[in-house]
Amino acid sequence: MSSVMSGRRQAARRAAPSLSAEAFAADVVAGLTAKPKRLPPKYFYDAAGSALFDQITRLPEYYPTRCELALLTDNAPAMAAPFPPGCAVIEFGSGSSRKARILLGAAATVEAYVPIDISGEFLQGDAAQLRRDLPLLAVHPIVADFTSAADLPAAIAAMPRVGFFPGSTIGNFEPYEAAGFLRHVGRMLGAGSLFVVGVDLVKASDVLYRAYNDAEGITAKFNLNLLARINRELGADFDLAAFEHHACYNAERSRIEMHLASTRRQKARFCGVAVEFRAGETIHTENSYKYSIDSFQALARGSGWSPLKAWSDGLFSIHALRRAEDR
Ligand code: SAH
Ligand code: AVI
Repeated sequence: MSSVMSGRRQAARRAAPSLSAEAFAADVVAGLTAKPKRLPPKYFYDAAGSALFDQITRLPEYYPTRCELALLTDNAPAMAAPFPPGCAVIEFGSGSSRKARILLGAAATVEAYVPIDISGEFLQGDAAQLRRDLPLLAVHPIVADFTSAADLPAAIAAMPRVGFFPGSTIGNFEPYEAAGFLRHVGRMLGAGSLFVVGVDLVKASDVLYRAYNDAEGITAKFNLNLLARINRELGADFDLAAFEHHACYNAERSRIEMHLASTRRQKARFCGVAVEFRAGETIHTENSYKYSIDSFQALARGSGWSPLKAWSDGLFSIHALRRAEDR
């Protein structure tokens, strides 16, 4: 244990990540010494990972972004109709804010926009561009883990709030975690608030398979960047050529699973720890749960939100929710 601690301290000195190097090191050590091995998907998003995700959203096989952008473009005025005057929109995992721009463009009543993202560099660059493009909008970016962020900027304290969580990022939680997150957002946004959530739908497994196994190999690069990041920030010695991207649809659990599979028996060292891999052994890096309209609405109802309306093209869905009144 003491060698792990001294390794972590060394890692903290070498690294300059957007959040805490200590927390990153601790999560990597915990995940890679667990059985089976796993890593939290939030660590995909350093500057390189965010740029790779942006490329994924433009791939022909990755239908979710295309579908959600079209649903937003066609229905943004209806989605924005119940937004209260002078409200603030708080986005969780805003990425490039491409989708928020469509919603904000249809909502004349929005005074402030609060994008929350773990990918600091990407977030600050995007917020600066947004301020140039929409000079009348107050933009307050927050670099944080949205599962623990609780304090909103003082400037929006008196404003009614609307949450926005597109991209089906909610699918990256276990369903029980998604329920906990919905409750957390309800507390954060307050009584009477609205929440607009994008949710990918269960569908034919071949369509799902292709979306996470694109021909150009960008999703593979995105997955492998997690090990590259651990090498960069924690001084690890992962041989990236000896790991490959695996993604498959687990129909029983309605989820895509992403793994990094070791192509041979090998050892990797980081933070004072040495971890062994058998040939074929995997690191589970991400789940992407898929819902039906009904199963998502049931989850929302059980987590303090009343479904108002859902828009769908059969592949993807966007839900408008209103926080159930406190009793
Ligand atoms: N909303 C965008 C981006 C989705 S990708 C879209 O719909 O295209 C997921 C985004 O959430 C990334 O920008 C990532 O940096 C961010 N993210 C992932 N986990 C996070 C966490 N725990 N806390 C804060 N941001 C997170
Ligand atoms: C951000 N999240 C919803 C994406 C997804 O589809 O689960 C991340 C992703 N992983 C591989 N491709 C895209």
